[in-house]
Amino acid sequence: MRLSLASILCLAVQLGTALPGPPKKPAPVTPLTNHTILDPPKGGRIVYPRLAELHDGTILVTASVSGGSLMGNGKSAFPIFETKDNGVTWKWISNLTDQVNGWGMSAQPALLELRKPLGKFKPGTILASGNSWSSNGTRIDLYASTDGARTWEFISRVAEGGRPNTTNGATPIWEPFLLHYEDELIVYYSDQRDPLHGQKLAHQRSKDLLTWGPVVNDVRYDEYLARPGMTVVAHVAPIKKWILVYELPIGNSSSHGSHYPVHYRLADDPREFDAAEHVGIIVEDPATGDKMAPNASPYVVWSPVGGPNGTIIVSDADYDVLYVNRNGGDPGAWEVRESAQSAAYSRALHVFEKSPEWLMVVGGDTFDGNGWGGLSLSVQALEKKPGPGPGHGCKPPVV
Ligand SMILES: *[C@@H]1O[C@H](CO)[C@@H](O)[C@H](O)[C@H]1NC(C)=O
Ligand SMILES: *[C@@H]1O[C@H](CO)[C@@H](O)[C@H](O)[C@H]1NC(C)=O
Ligand SMILES: *[C@@H]1O[C@H](CO)[C@@H](O)[C@H](O)[C@H]1NC(C)=O
Ligand SMILES: *[C@@H]1O[C@H](CO)[C@@H](O)[C@H](O)[C@H]1NC(C)=O
Ligand SMILES: *[C@@H]1O[C@H](CO)[C@@H](O)[C@H](O)[C@H]1NC(C)=O
Ligand SMILES: *[C@@H]1O[C@H](CO)[C@@H](O)[C@H](O)[C@H]1NC(C)=O
Repeated sequence: MRLSLASILCLAVQLGTALPGPPKKPAPVTPLTNHTILDPPKGGRIVYPRLAELHDGTILVTASVSGGSLMGNGKSAFPIFETKDNGVTWKWISNLTDQVNGWGMSAQPALLELRKPLGKFKPGTILASGNSWSSNGTRIDLYASTDGARTWEFISRVAEGGRPNTTNGATPIWEPFLLHYEDELIVYYSDQRDPLHGQKLAHQRSKDLLTWGPVVNDVRYDEYLARPGMTVVAHVAPIKKWILVYELPIGNSSSHGSHYPVHYRLADDPREFDAAEHVGIIVEDPATGDKMAPNASPYVVWSPVGGPNGTIIVSDADYDVLYVNRNGGDPGAWEVRESAQSAAYSRALHVFEKSPEWLMVVGGDTFDGNGWGGLSLSVQALEKKPGPGPGHGCKPPVV
């Protein structure tokens, strides 16, 4: 399914060729390509990276680990890495381990730094979540660190479901994503517990991080077989909207060859995606009319760079390329851009807060496990020029 990208003519991002020398302070952002964070021992496999930028520009990265001896031979845990020079050098600073279930932190981590107080938690508190599972269930637990991610403390359980099982009719939950909005933490996740839906997307909110409000639907379809999954949310400031991206498998159906086509919704309020219109991302080559649809485990970020509406940037699992929209999410305005980071299961994107013309892409292994297996990142520049509008001529990969 991996495509050669040599045919993509629209090389709009500059790719780095050499790694820079030791950083000065403050650390400049420099381009990086497939720069190693962690090369796991033989048999080890790292997937589904997640990250958070802290108020001082430090960036934390974590990921799911499986196989090999990386996390010892005990229960699984999320390794936490830190960079203070925008991705050049990395330090393994802690492990987020399961303190309450005896099941391990199995997969699907999430990270966020509080910038404002929330309940008794002060700004600078780092929150982490993930899916702790065993044959007895799936649990989305919340942890906090008040010492820069060196140590972690269990705070509360957000939600709980049945044992991990992706068959419709089973009742697990998956894939938390954290957003601090107004005076609440929103924890989005994928939910198989509702008998009306094979899977839906939902969230729960808390004002104190200890007690959690009711399950609120974000994305659900009348068709039972639909399994919207893997929420990621970003703010698109100029149009005062929030974007939620997700994959949407429905039985064996496909969109331009993609069985988990990436969709999105735009809403005025990140608590109210349920009523928002849904759009599948389709990229068209204006020269040939050929179309392609990004596939599976999407991520989304927004940068103010790239014209009046800035740039929405989306990643998927199957293609190296990124999908950009500089027209406020206009369904006809998606364009393909080359990425410096190869395709991987649930790559994470990040726009540097103080240097928003730079994009970080972090990747691990592919879903099928046929990648390198290590954790690495790329840093590339975004286009500064405003978008030329829908139908601009970038040749997409064609499936
Ligand atoms: C990325 O780097 C790793 C480690 O050096 C290497 O094994 C892998 O082939 C590289 N991936 C690409 C796409 O170049
Ligand atoms: C994380 O856990 C692994 C496996 O137990 C251990 O080898 C490593 O030293 C730990 N790292 C830190 C920073 O605690
Ligand atoms: C699952 O629950 C059963 C019954 O409570 C218990 O005996 C068993 O140890 C549990 N297994 C795990 C992995 O928690
Ligand atoms: C997975 O869920 C399906 C549907 O409920 C069920 O038939 C199957 O037995 C479950 N598999 C396991 C291993 O629990
Ligand atoms: C999907 O295709 C497989 C193989 O052709 C078939 O066995 C299965 O019933 C199909 N599933 C659905 C939901 O249509
Ligand atoms: C910005 O996005 C809004 C909403 O999609 C759209 O109406 C407007 O035309 C866009 N402006 C530019 C310059 O793309």
